[in-house]
Amino acid sequence: MRIAIAYFSWTGNTENVAREIIHVLRKRHEILEARIKPLRDLPYLLWLILSFIPESKVKIEDCSIDDPDVLFLGTPKWTFSCPPVNTFLESVKWRGDVYLFITCGGFDEKRYARNLENKLKKLGFNHGDTLIIKRRFIRDDRHRKPISDFLERNGFT
Ligand SMILES: Cc1cc2nc3c(=O)[nH]c(=O)nc-3n(C[C@H](O)[C@H](O)[C@H](O)COP(=O)(O)O)c2cc1C
Repeated sequence: MRIAIAYFSWTGNTENVAREIIHVLRKRHEILEARIKPLRDLPYLLWLILSFIPESKVKIEDCSIDDPDVLFLGTPKWTFSCPPVNTFLESVKWRGDVYLFITCGGFDEKRYARNLENKLKKLGFNHGDTLIIKRRFIRDDRHRKPISDFLERNGFT
């Protein structure tokens, strides 16, 4: 399969999860990596304010995913909204199966995941499954097992 992994990561946790997903999937699949990057980085306070505005957007660098069979989309859980990811979803023309991976501190992440899953469906994507990983698992290097379980139960390994 051709699998695109598109992710935004501000402090590195989602990137760590993306790296591990890529490491595992690369053994059996062709991987297209697309990092979602805002054109301008902002200070924490501005990101925080924007994260309270549902559907807030910022300009991002060109981030094409080149017609994959499946998309893995990675995002941190930011209050109600992660602006670079909103912009990515608005700009991508491709439609198909999307698997979500979300990293978080551990506050209200399930509702956030449900909202994002509903948004994907409204936009016309097929939502496959969602992996949520708390940042302390990543810091303690306990994220590999949930990632491999997630990939296995969805038939990617
Ligand atoms: C602006 C902002 C808002 C956040 N809001 C939440 C939140 O509502 N709930 C939560 O569990 N974590 C929240 N976090 C923590 C991040 O979700 C968590 O640290 C995540 O792993 C960061 O991913 P990254 O390192 O890939 O940027 C927030 C972080 C930032 C910067």
